[in-house]
Amino acid sequence: MKSSILSVGAYVPPGIMTNHELPATLNTNDEWIRARTGIEQRHVAGPDETTASLSIIAGQRALKAMALDPREVDWVMVCTDTPETWSPATACYVQDAIGARYASAIDLTGGCAGFLQTLQIADRMAAAGDTVLVIGTEVLTKSLDWTDRSTAVLFGDGSGALVVGPSENGIRIAHAQSQSDGSQADILSKPYGGTRNPITTELVAQGHLHAIHMEGQKVFKRAVQDMGSMAVQLLQDKNLSTSQIDWVIPHQANQRIIDAVAHHAGIPNERVFSHVAHYANTGSASVAVALADMLMQNLIGQGQNLLTVAFGAGFSWGAQLWAVDQVPPVLFE
Ligand code: ACO
Repeated sequence: MKSSILSVGAYVPPGIMTNHELPATLNTNDEWIRARTGIEQRHVAGPDETTASLSIIAGQRALKAMALDPREVDWVMVCTDTPETWSPATACYVQDAIGARYASAIDLTGGCAGFLQTLQIADRMAAAGDTVLVIGTEVLTKSLDWTDRSTAVLFGDGSGALVVGPSENGIRIAHAQSQSDGSQADILSKPYGGTRNPITTELVAQGHLHAIHMEGQKVFKRAVQDMGSMAVQLLQDKNLSTSQIDWVIPHQANQRIIDAVAHHAGIPNERVFSHVAHYANTGSASVAVALADMLMQNLIGQGQNLLTVAFGAGFSWGAQLWAVDQVPPVLFE
């Protein structure tokens, strides 16, 4: 049986923080951030907004877009590095709130490539007959060290949801690959707060917050190399030339990475989607929110070939070829 992305929903918090509104303690400026990342603003969750609340809205939108009864959902999978709670899974809160009464709910964590990894798993399950609600969500602004200018300026909050089911009436995942290199785990991580370094008052007093730590240049190099190589490999596997790809939908990390990956893969910039200027890096949400935005802008048409690529903590990276058999419905403001 074939499986496809049958509908798409997305939600970003209404609160926006422009580069000019970043806390003065970061000692940064709009010009530096734009030049190094292309980011101009990010959506920021309010005090009452959480990973579950964002996921619920995005998930409900995906269901509503195709008028799917939540009781038809077999699995709710939330991919996130910023969970609602350590336990239970964020997906359990979502499953309850959306009324997916008969679904099994589970979280997966894979850094910024996690969404494509999760989708790869969901695709196999859908091909076996299940209807899977796959949601990628981050509330990264609550996981940042707001005194660390090299990370705090890069991220934003958001959620994207896809219904993946056993049908050919949507975007078919024609080919998918992903890979990890755990030897690089410490380059990009949230080292405190887990069992390796349980959070204590002493650690907090020393400034060791459960925030993201990153060696930016090392991440940059590997992101370009690994996403670029995997994209090229995927095209070779399917005997496709770059001219047959209508759109590349890259993980929205930063504009310089997006440009470098496109260059590496030999795809002209006008066929590479980017809205990183407005949303910044939303981690596990990024590819799904980008897809929702493209559908809202009517950029995706029947018969197109799409190439999506992502890279993140782990390191893990993935790429997928999507064949648009039918344009799926979308809800995203
Ligand atoms: N504002 C002003 N100055 C800054 C800022 C900032 N926000 N951040 C760093 N600087 C300073 C540094 O302190 C340093 O100053 P110094 O020379 O006085 O020591 C200088 O700028 C250069 O720092 P670098 O880290 O060398 O800057 P670089 O050119 O590498 O740019 C950046 C940093 C933007 C983080 C880049 O390395 C990058 O894009 N890396 C990829 C990171 C990424 O996208 N991570 C997201 C998660 S993984 C993923 O999604 C792919």
